[in-house]
Formats: sequence, C-alpha cells, structure tokens
Amino acid sequence: MLSNIGELKMIDMVQIIDGKKVSDQLLVDLKEKIEGLISSGKRRPGLAVILVGNDPASATYVGRKKKVCESLGMKSFDYVLSAAVTEDELIALIERLNNDQDVDGILLQVPLPKGLNERKLLDLISHEKDVDGFHPVNVGKLLLGLPTFKSCTPFGVCELLKAYKVETSGKHVVIVGRSNIVGKPLSAMLIQKSEPGEPGNATVTVCHSRTKNLKEITLQADILIAAIGQPLFVKEDMVKEGAVVIDVGVNRVDDSTRERGYKLVGDVDFEGASKKARLITPVPGGVGPMTIAMLMKNTLKSYLDRV
Ligand code: GUN
Repeated sequence: MLSNIGELKMIDMVQIIDGKKVSDQLLVDLKEKIEGLISSGKRRPGLAVILVGNDPASATYVGRKKKVCESLGMKSFDYVLSAAVTEDELIALIERLNNDQDVDGILLQVPLPKGLNERKLLDLISHEKDVDGFHPVNVGKLLLGLPTFKSCTPFGVCELLKAYKVETSGKHVVIVGRSNIVGKPLSAMLIQKSEPGEPGNATVTVCHSRTKNLKEITLQADILIAAIGQPLFVKEDMVKEGAVVIDVGVNRVDDSTRERGYKLVGDVDFEGASKKARLITPVPGGVGPMTIAMLMKNTLKSYLDRV
C-alpha cells in the first residue's frame, strides 16, 4: 500500500514534456505559412537530403525528414548514395545543389562512412543553404549572437523549454556531452543574452568524458541536458530534486521481445530520473520530433531569405 502511495506521489510530481505535441503545432504553423506562399504564386521551398551508406538509424531519420517535408508542401530532393561513392562525386553533387535555385536547404546526413572527409564536405555546403547550422560561418554567427541557422536538435531543445515556460535566465544548465551537433551549439544558445521568455541568460556547464566528479556537477543542475550517446547514462542519483531533465539521446538497444529486435532508449534512465525531476522528456516523443520540425523551420527561413 505504502509503495502505491509513493508511486502516486511520483506520477503527481513529474510532468512529461510532449515533444510530439509541440512539434505538431509548429508543423501546422509552418504548413499554413507555406500554403499561403504557394497560393500567392510563389514556388515551393525545397530541401535536399544526402544519405551515404546504409546505416539503418540514418535511413530512418532521412525517411522521416522526406515525409514531413512533403506533408508541408515542400519539395524533397533525396540522394541515397552507396558507401562506395567517391569524395569527388559528393563534391560535385554539393556544388550542383549550391547552385540549384529550387534548393533552399542542403543536409548531408552524418556520420558519413569511413574514408569520406566529413568536415571538408560539410564546409562545402553554401552557408546560405546550411539548414543544419553546421557550417563554420553559421557556428561563428551563433556564438556571436547574430541571426543564423541554428542546429536543429539544440534549437529544438530551446523551443521545448520555451513551450513549457522553463525559465533559463540565471539558472544553472548542465549539459552532459560536448558534440558539435548538440553540446557545443546548445551551450552557445543558452549563454546568449535574451529577451524575457526566450531561452538564454543561463549559467552553462558542459561536461564530457574527462569531467571529474560528474555527479557532483549534475546534482547542481536546475536544467540537466543529456547528450552523450550512452544508453541510460544519467541515473536517479545524478538528478537534483525538482530539476528539468532533457534527454537528447536516441540509442538502439537489443530487445528480443520486439519484432524489430531493438527498442529506443535515451541517455537518461527515465524511470529513475522521473522520481526527482519536475519536468522530463521521454524517448521517443521528446526532443526527437522537434529536430525535424526545426529543420523545416530553417528551410523555410532560407527560402524566405531568397524569394
Ligand atoms: N545525424 C544526426 N543528427 C543529424 C542532424 O541533425 N543533421 C545531420 N546532417 N546529420 C545528423
């Protein structure tokens, strides 16, 4: 009986952040804007996605991007290439897309298969079509607080915090993970000066594999963001009572009870962390759907800059 009361209390205290709901609303708004543009005689926005090799998780993401793109009335240009493609062929494709007037955004899915120079290829994408926000010009602008394409996953995290009215100003945000895609740009976004109601003005600590006394630091987090790529890494005892917990991880772990043979889990032990958190994102259904919505938002921004 007592444990039932305990469980009820836990459910009572934690609120689950519904990333699907927030992203669906963003997509509805984008669709409406795009329909308005098209009905006024403008061309459709276009997004080109390049997938190299046959990594199953990457193929799933790219398939989802195509579907959402088309559902909004955008053109989707898809290039699914064998892992044997040469760097010169990829360079020629990127250059062609840079000059294609129907293409507003170019996304090169990473990681690339071994042997291809990822940094070199990403840097060849015109920074004006870099809807991923990976180009050094856009990363630099982000750090300076200038308008630019913001990387989709950290941008999605900021939009989720905003949607759930999570105050970041003066709060201690601890990010576990220092990747170029998430940890680094997210830290830049959250330390930025910002208007009331907009994410920013936070005190940010970025932790990584060499951080000493990690638990001591995560326990100080008002907002704890896990983006380390290790299943269930953040445990209950690493979370401060009443913290907001954002899980960016998407990890496939074996699960023989499922037909597909795996299940998706985040970087956070959801069940444990829920006992401490005030607000928490699930996996799936948390940050994931936001990434694609922000990609669409960036593609529309690029389109509006050029029509
Ligand atoms: N791989 C995992 N996430 C991303 C992303 O946001 N963009 C690209 N290009 N590749 C990814």
